[in-house]
Amino acid sequence: MKIIILSCHFFILSPLLFFRPAAFCQEIFHNGGTGDCQECHTTPPALIGSDASSTCLRCHQGRAGTPLTNQHHIATDTASSPLCLQLPPGGDFCWLKKNYTWPVAEGMNFTLSSKGDNHGHNIVALDYGYGPDSNYAVAPGGTYPASSLSCISCHDPHGSYRRLEDGTIATTGPPIIASGSYTDSPDPETDKSVGVYRLLAGQGYHPKSSPEVPVFSSAPPVAIAPSRYNRAETSGDTRVVYGSGMTEWCQNCHPQLNSAYKHPVGSSAVFTSKIISNYNSYISSGAATGNYTSSYTSLVPYEIGSKDYTLVKTRAATLGSSGPAGGVNVMCLSCHRAHASGWDNMLRWNMNAEFITYEGAFPGIDNNSPAQLAQGRTAAETAKTFYDRLASDYARFQRNLCNKCHGRD
Ligand code: HEC
Ligand code: HEC
Ligand code: HEC
Ligand code: HEC
Ligand code: HEC
Ligand code: HEC
Repeated sequence: MKIIILSCHFFILSPLLFFRPAAFCQEIFHNGGTGDCQECHTTPPALIGSDASSTCLRCHQGRAGTPLTNQHHIATDTASSPLCLQLPPGGDFCWLKKNYTWPVAEGMNFTLSSKGDNHGHNIVALDYGYGPDSNYAVAPGGTYPASSLSCISCHDPHGSYRRLEDGTIATTGPPIIASGSYTDSPDPETDKSVGVYRLLAGQGYHPKSSPEVPVFSSAPPVAIAPSRYNRAETSGDTRVVYGSGMTEWCQNCHPQLNSAYKHPVGSSAVFTSKIISNYNSYISSGAATGNYTSSYTSLVPYEIGSKDYTLVKTRAATLGSSGPAGGVNVMCLSCHRAHASGWDNMLRWNMNAEFITYEGAFPGIDNNSPAQLAQGRTAAETAKTFYDRLASDYARFQRNLCNKCHGRD
């Protein structure tokens, strides 16, 4: 059965449609499972693209002029736009194509650089100009070969992982009736299951054609995204409620990293009362007059420490912009994005500069900011890394966002 809805003006009668809101005219394709074989295969197992990721990007790359209501775009066609335009929680892979250099000091020839390869997970998608990472041969803290990294390293293209009525994750069982990623996703029932969060792969997984890669040992994370998730955050955050398991899921490929990078992370890295209080009062460098009801920022997310989807969904519907209360914990995505970001080490904000704003503006090579702060980016590019927030949301000279939790500035 073909279940692609081409636009808001098309209406194909299918019982599956009742599970999606009309408001954003979202196309449906995987619907929590796989999708029409012919959209990815000429004849199975031959793929339409040169490789798996190129097959995905046929639909998942967006161009300038395509509205962000095409939620599922996670890469920008750089031929259509100098800016990486997509603003989903995982980030825009286009940053992998952005190489920056700048003088180490004014007037000096010696330069520093921020290479595209350092901006994220280098998916190999040859039809779209994405090649393997040139820095790492394998995942830091693990053995996953960089040359095998693709969309299907992390997402199961056949969407077989499903969430059952009792919360169990399985690859077989009741049919998947819809995506399980959203606040408005249906709940699984005895004879119906929903897709796992973002079709992420779980225990026992490796792409069939890649027997060389390590097999996943941890289940997909528990999380719920809002139905509108690819948007500018100029006047409000896109709040994914992360429940638990994201760190453990990243450790499928980065098992030893915890000891290499010393920050506490995962279910045991629970916020102390001091950190809860810092997070809730912190507005910007020098301003600690905020409060619980409005303190949340998606630039510094955390897990609420629950595996219970009913609770996570309720929280997703009710938390608004309120900040942490007890029992929340740090996860890998508190500091990193999952796909790519505008900064080194795929971090959510720049850790390599003393200030992330300059005289009340986002530093850029086109607005007289010091080269050491602009680091080769235009002000508009820097604004995109802030998901189009306003520089005036921050201090005139804002320090890095470790301070959101640690409140030391
Ligand atoms: C979203 C894209 C997508 C859709 C839809 C899709 N496939 Fe695939 N399929 C892939 C990719 C990517 C691979 C390669 C997996 C690998 O490299 O291990 C693959 C591999 C396969 C293989 C060989 C290896 C394996 O995993 O079993 C078979 C058989 C297959 N697909 C059948 C199907 C059938 C039948 C359908 C329709 C019910 C389908 N696929 C739908 C993307 C897709
Ligand atoms: C024919 C177009 C098409 C192709 C090919 C395609 N996708 Fe999608 N994808 C979509 C659309 C449309 C959505 C949003 C609606 C939905 O989830 O059904 C989506 C949503 C997703 C989501 C979010 C799903 C959720 O339930 O949260 C993921 C993850 C995803 N795609 C990954 C992939 C991967 C990986 C591939 C390649 C193996 C791929 N897609 C190939 C069109 C496509
Ligand atoms: C290293 C693992 C990894 C790779 C590789 C990866 N993804 Fe994802 N993807 C994730 C995770 C984790 C999320 C959830 C991010 C979040 O909620 O913060 C996600 C989210 C998504 C979403 C939902 C939008 C968003 O950003 O939250 C889509 C669509 C998607 N991925 C498609 C793709 C496609 C297409 C590719 C290949 C071009 C790809 N992913 C490669 C891990 C990965
Ligand atoms: C399927 C395996 C896989 C999973 C799952 C995975 N990674 Fe990676 N990761 C890799 C590989 C391989 C590299 C090295 C190649 C590269 O950077 O593209 C890497 C590199 C990185 C880097 C360095 C990026 C850079 O460019 O400097 C960071 C940071 C990172 N991963 C964080 C994460 C986080 C956070 C998660 C969970 C959301 C995660 N990884 C999940 C395989 C994975
Ligand atoms: C508190 C913030 C924070 C958390 C939480 C965090 N990281 Fe990082 N990570 C960083 C910073 C900052 C760097 C850059 C370190 C440097 O330059 O020495 C980094 C570097 C990395 C790198 C590349 C450098 C290396 O170590 O080889 C990888 C890969 C990585 N992190 C993965 C992860 C994964 C996976 C998790 C979860 C298990 C995680 N990080 C949790 C802040 C964090
Ligand atoms: C999402 C909140 C959060 C963010 C963001 C965060 N931390 Fe932490 N940090 C914690 C928690 C929770 C602990 C463990 C509890 C404790 O020791 O106070 C911790 C502990 C630490 C510690 C050891 C204990 C201490 O306070 O001396 C250091 C050092 C540290 N963090 C540095 C950083 C740096 C550097 C960054 C930015 C790259 C960062 N943190 C970002 C929450 C966070």
